Amino acid sequence: MPSQNHLNFAPADGKLGVLIPGMGAVATTFMAGVEAVKRGLGQPVGSLTQLATIRLGKRTDNRTPLIKDFVPLAGLDQLVFGGWDIYPDNAYEAATHAKVLEQPLLEQLRQPLEAIRPMAAVFDQEYVKRIHGPNLKTKGSKMDKAQALVEDIEGFRRASGCSRLVMVWCGSTEVFHRPVEVHQSLEKFEKGLAGNDPDIAPSQVYAYAALKCGVPYANGAPHLSHDIPALLDMARDRALPVCGKDFKTGQTYMKTLLAPGLKARMLGVQGWFSTNILGNRDGEVLDDPGSFKSKEETKLSVLDQILQPHLYPNLYKDLYHAVRINYYPPRGDAKEGWDNIDIFGWLGYPMQIKIDFLCRDSILAAPLVLDLVLFLDLAGRAGMKGIQEWLSFYFKAPITAPGLYPEHDIFIQLMKLKNTLRWMRGEELITHLGLEYYD
Ligand SMILES: NC(=O)c1ccc[n+]([C@@H]2O[C@H](COP(=O)([O-])OP(=O)(O)OC[C@H]3O[C@@H](n4cnc5c(N)ncnc54)[C@H](O)[C@@H]3O)[C@@H](O)[C@H]2O)c1
Repeated sequence: MPSQNHLNFAPADGKLGVLIPGMGAVATTFMAGVEAVKRGLGQPVGSLTQLATIRLGKRTDNRTPLIKDFVPLAGLDQLVFGGWDIYPDNAYEAATHAKVLEQPLLEQLRQPLEAIRPMAAVFDQEYVKRIHGPNLKTKGSKMDKAQALVEDIEGFRRASGCSRLVMVWCGSTEVFHRPVEVHQSLEKFEKGLAGNDPDIAPSQVYAYAALKCGVPYANGAPHLSHDIPALLDMARDRALPVCGKDFKTGQTYMKTLLAPGLKARMLGVQGWFSTNILGNRDGEVLDDPGSFKSKEETKLSVLDQILQPHLYPNLYKDLYHAVRINYYPPRGDAKEGWDNIDIFGWLGYPMQIKIDFLCRDSILAAPLVLDLVLFLDLAGRAGMKGIQEWLSFYFKAPITAPGLYPEHDIFIQLMKLKNTLRWMRGEELITHLGLEYYD
């Protein structure tokens, strides 16, 4: 189908500031990784914006530019980092503490990383129970704290000389909350900020401040954050792109690879038991039942949507799905995720699949942060506003318009992402029909 659109992009000139609430393992692995790639000390493995190509036109046309040559993305040299954390450690110290990257590499990046010092955080112990830090904004109402974040953002913009900014939440997972009245409109939300409403989470104060400053926002954790009418409306009204929630990295990434394949062949699934051990700070926070509940919700929703038991009751109606996360300090960031999948085939005969994924959480998450930064900035320069469904590819619980179910199948998500890029550039969308080759 010929695409109708060709968007006009503001050029990617000047510096692009990346503001990150939560300078822990993921954030520092991302920042250190970008600095390492810039110096030729490593490859940006796992990043579509840096490595992937995109097919244009027919298979016989041989047009497969790199994505970064096809759409005008900011370059790594243009990125400048800033952030907030409840601990005062600079990015070098935080990366050392996180123990994801090896110390000899961090030593080579010490200078740029030491220069990234966290600003004082907006934090509420009710929302993240297991960690305690001194680097906090303590004065005034939630509205005063939002205002203080606005000043941080504008101060960073001035000091760094950035022409554009993007914010990505890489902070801890907050306890599970459902949207309530104060989240339903911007007016109610602002009243709630001024009145210190306990249902407004710190991540919502950051998202509000970002949108107030005209900054696109993404949420890498599973909690609500900006996935509420007040902030989604604010994003749309201010013509700002947003996306989330919860980076799709280890076990759920595997799930969204495998489940579409089983369904594609109409194989049944009777049970899917997933368990993990991890020992980083994220694991410690998720050891709290409230934070784990946020994670469990996003992890569990995936299979139901992919397998569609309402359409295939004989294959998936009684599927037993369980997800466990166990905090086990010796493993640090090197998580191990096991899946036992009980499937059945022809005439109902049972079979089993076992997965043992020895992954590295932050190594998988860092390239996602990079892609989200560059694509959100691109979307902002193209005037794309509100929820960016084409970035669902990166999330366990993609935000969608009300009443619309999210696409979890990673291959559909990838097609959506690439077709959106083609659409942005006025290229033909690829349907994979392919009849024209046989005319
Ligand atoms: N690594 C992955 O593969 C992955 C995948 C999906 C989601 N996530 C999510 O990404 C987030 C970051 O993961 P991580 O491994 O870097 O965790 P981490 O514990 O190493 O880092 C989180 C940081 O956020 C800080 N923080 C908490 N609340 C804050 C606040 N209100 N303001 C500022 N800073 C705050 C903490 O002090 C900590 O330094 C977590 O929510 C995690 O669940 C990670």
